[in-house]
Amino acid sequence: MEYREISHTNLKVSLIGLGTMTWGEQNTEAEGHEQMDYAFEEGVNLFDAAEMYPVPPLAETCHETERIIGTWFADRGARDKVILATKVVGPGSHMNHIRDRPRLDRDNIMEAVEGSLTRLKTDYIDLYQLHWPDRPVPLFGGRDYSPPRKDDSIPIEETLKVLGELVDQGKVRYIGLSNETPWGAMKFLQIADSLCLPRIVTIQNSYNLLNRTFDGGLSEVCHEEGVRSLPYSPLAFGKLSGKYRAGAMPKGARLSLWERFARYNGPTSDAATEAYATIAEESGLSLAQMSLAWINQRHHVASNLIGATTMDQLRENIASVDVTLSGEVRKAIDTVHHRYPNPCP
Ligand SMILES: NC(=O)c1ccc[n+]([C@@H]2O[C@H](COP(=O)([O-])OP(=O)(O)OC[C@H]3O[C@@H](n4cnc5c(N)ncnc54)[C@H](OP(=O)(O)O)[C@@H]3O)[C@@H](O)[C@H]2O)c1
Repeated sequence: MEYREISHTNLKVSLIGLGTMTWGEQNTEAEGHEQMDYAFEEGVNLFDAAEMYPVPPLAETCHETERIIGTWFADRGARDKVILATKVVGPGSHMNHIRDRPRLDRDNIMEAVEGSLTRLKTDYIDLYQLHWPDRPVPLFGGRDYSPPRKDDSIPIEETLKVLGELVDQGKVRYIGLSNETPWGAMKFLQIADSLCLPRIVTIQNSYNLLNRTFDGGLSEVCHEEGVRSLPYSPLAFGKLSGKYRAGAMPKGARLSLWERFARYNGPTSDAATEAYATIAEESGLSLAQMSLAWINQRHHVASNLIGATTMDQLRENIASVDVTLSGEVRKAIDTVHHRYPNPCP
């Protein structure tokens, strides 16, 4: 396993990070524990959770993922060997089952962090992330920003001050953003610097061969500001495993189970996936491993947050650290990207 430093921290994270959002929905507690055991043995030291997991977020299953991680820590006792990341939800009426009207304000964040600490059976979180901004930005398939008619966003300064308190109390070591824009990231950095509040150290956005929007502006923010990325959905919800090719809808797979994720299917996404699959075949690689290896080689990446519902998937995905793509393969990938740019933002 390769490890990468996150600037301005003493964190050295494994190039593969373990996504957890299937545990408690597509995976049982025992399966989640088996995944953590295997990943940990393979040198994975970053686990990424969220208070709202598993996905899809439902009142019945809410918080299960963190609880499953907590029972693993209680049983295996490896808390100090794992870099534990979790997240507080942003606003949205679909999150009202978590708290009454969640926002990124003081009361909500304080309540959220206590809940996460209890479920995770720990007294500190290594990386505490804002799951999405308290601003109306394009999210989860959205493409375009529209200025709000009325701006009632929680000021970034207020959110940062609460996070600063949590760092001072030792409950949180470092902070990060998720589903963020270049403007938002720069604003967090600017306010932190001017008020001596904690700087964000990571940005966790969707990033894969079907969505390279991060490279438009956030890539520059990372390079210039010493921030690292934690790409999520590196296989575009499984689309880049190739198993949905030719219109297949495999039983029990995420895109077959939930219509709400249909944005990953569509003529442009299908055509791009087909073109990437051809490059993989010609290079003697699986499409999944080529897609993950491409992310592993990007300059801004600290840890590639994989997800798996079976042990075979987990083994294949972690083994992507041993794959190095040639310049020729990367050039062929760029040609496809220029033909079909970002079909699944
Ligand atoms: N911050 C955010 O808003 C956000 C959003 C999404 C994810 N995340 C984080 O990122 C992690 C990973 O995201 P993700 O689960 O969407 O990643 P992904 O790699 O895009 O999708 C993972 C899913 O694809 C399928 N799959 C994975 N490897 C496969 C393989 N080798 N062959 C065939 N199918 C394979 C599995 O689903 P099936 O078996 O059902 O097909 C698996 O659960 C999450 O657990 C979470 O920690 C964060």
